[in-house]
Amino acid sequence: MIYAQRLLDWLGETEHETHVVLSSYAQAVIRQELPAELRLPEGVVPHGLKSMNAPFASGSNVIDAMVVIPCTMGTLGRIAHGYSDNVLLRAADVALKENRKLILVSRETPLNLVHLKNMELLLQAGATILPANPHFYANPKTIEEVADTVVSRVLDHLGLANEASPRWQEEE
Ligand SMILES: Cc1cc2nc3c(=O)[nH]c(=O)nc-3n(C[C@H](O)[C@H](O)[C@H](O)COP(=O)(O)O)c2cc1C
Repeated sequence: MIYAQRLLDWLGETEHETHVVLSSYAQAVIRQELPAELRLPEGVVPHGLKSMNAPFASGSNVIDAMVVIPCTMGTLGRIAHGYSDNVLLRAADVALKENRKLILVSRETPLNLVHLKNMELLLQAGATILPANPHFYANPKTIEEVADTVVSRVLDHLGLANEASPRWQEEE
């Protein structure tokens, strides 16, 4: 969940409109991994999982992008197979059908054939699979710096110029 927190923190510094939906398991994982709770920067709009009364549940509202971070293999599989029985899954379905950017930050290892087939299907449908694989060549000193090596790539794929993490061969 630290990946989600860091992405929100970085997005909070931009002028972009940001909405947040948490899956039901996300609440449990937040308790486990973020004892201080998930902090929403000012202006970020939270939505319940069960109500479809959110703008991004319909393609009639144009969004720039959706990121599922972290994305479980459960959610990835449900998106791959068109289950849309909550607003998070529906939003992903809408993002794909409207050809908007959908970035899935998967976090599972090792991967079984079902995971890989679902990823293949999602790639064919236009999603970006961006596994939460941190890098260490810039010698990160804190957990936040490790997480930012992944979050920086997410921001790159959102088209947001950022210095969230040092680049390969960048001067210190
Ligand atoms: C504390 C905790 C951590 C979990 N971590 C992962 C994980 O890193 N990756 C994963 O694919 N599933 C993980 N799971 C299993 C998922 O929660 C489970 O597959 C669930 O069906 C996913 O549903 P959701 O995507 O709606 O949250 C975890 C479960 C718990 C309770």
